Amino acid sequence: MRMVDLIHKKRVGDALTEQEISFIITEYTAGNVPDYQMSAFLMATFLNGMTDEETSFLTLAMAGSGEMIDLSAIAGVKVDKHSTGGVGDKVSLIVGPVVASLGIPVAKMSGRGLGHTGGTLDKLESIPGFQIELSKEAFINAVNTNKIAIVGQSGNLAPADKKMYALRDVTATVDSIPLIASSIMSKKIASGAEAIVLDVKIGSGAFMKTVEDARVLARTMVDIGTRLNRKTIAMITDMDQPLGREIGNANEIRESIEVLRGVGDKDLTEVAISVAAYMAMLGQVYSTFEEAQEAVRDIITKGKALDTLKRFIASQGGDERVVDQQELLPTAAYHMEVNATHAGFINEIQAENIGFAAMLLGAGRAKKEDHIDYAVGLTLNKKIGDAVEVGDSICTIHANRVDVAEVEAMIRDAYQITDTQPAPKKLIYDVIV
Ligand code: URA
Repeated sequence: MRMVDLIHKKRVGDALTEQEISFIITEYTAGNVPDYQMSAFLMATFLNGMTDEETSFLTLAMAGSGEMIDLSAIAGVKVDKHSTGGVGDKVSLIVGPVVASLGIPVAKMSGRGLGHTGGTLDKLESIPGFQIELSKEAFINAVNTNKIAIVGQSGNLAPADKKMYALRDVTATVDSIPLIASSIMSKKIASGAEAIVLDVKIGSGAFMKTVEDARVLARTMVDIGTRLNRKTIAMITDMDQPLGREIGNANEIRESIEVLRGVGDKDLTEVAISVAAYMAMLGQVYSTFEEAQEAVRDIITKGKALDTLKRFIASQGGDERVVDQQELLPTAAYHMEVNATHAGFINEIQAENIGFAAMLLGAGRAKKEDHIDYAVGLTLNKKIGDAVEVGDSICTIHANRVDVAEVEAMIRDAYQITDTQPAPKKLIYDVIV
């Protein structure tokens, strides 16, 4: 087999076989296919797409390019969740303890934040002492004991995807549905998921800008899951404004604790309850969504999810007292208000710009090597639809420096205030099963 022939086959729009796709991925991972040939292949795929069958073959080949995590020593259906990324998205921190409290094992590998989006690992590391690196045995033990552990991705998880993603980034081939779908699903499959709930975000802070595109991506990933024997459900949820009110790291932990106490932001609570309920269905503990949703609400009301959160934090070396004494979490030195300069209604909060404003403060990374300041971040005091008067605080900046003029300008830019109140926004657009 020659790579040039396979590039040609894709260029003229023919479908590749499983053996051909496996050849491309194996040889590329081994360094036998150079980046220039892979770039040509990625562009041909971007332009001509892939059949559902090819996308599944690609997913399996990428998953198999490195370590395939074996979770068979953990009893129960291993249900994972994945969000396509957003601003203020702390849903994993909430649903993990909830689902674990229902007896479903959460053996999760998460990533770090980059650019305008945050990462679950960074948020967890804002808890003093919390360790995201556990040996495989310790990881499996923690899940068997507490039903939950969240760790960093193994360095050798889907290495083909890592190489291809870096190349896509510089060859304008990131936003291709088969490439995104296979990239996400390959990592889930390699990390041992037996069932998957996908949270596909749409809006200003997301990859997918329209419901139609999000539906195609969601359907493609559900189809991959089904073909590869992993029950998969995809929710399409709003990211036209940040989720919840806190953006940062320690402050997102605080907000997650509020939700688990039953006093959190309404929209964030609704999305988290739905994700947890679908996970509980896939975990084969409940057969209907309504039944699962009821159980999730009950577990929160009875405080059991908070107890699980404490055990989870302690088992990974963290100070579990942060759950009751949030002052033990890192706190910024300065708190500055961004006040409205005219009255009206909040019509828009550009999620991406809010994410970049938080990054500029130090809550996120512009480059992979950047350090994070866990204490800093933003609190959105007004969300879309809220009325504002002149002088009302729309956002609080939590900073460890006094000069935040650039951050404040970005926040003002992100907020749009109009005379008329916008129609209420949908939170969950669709669920694809
Ligand atoms: N997230 C991924 O993991 N891969 C993509 O291609 C896009 C988003």
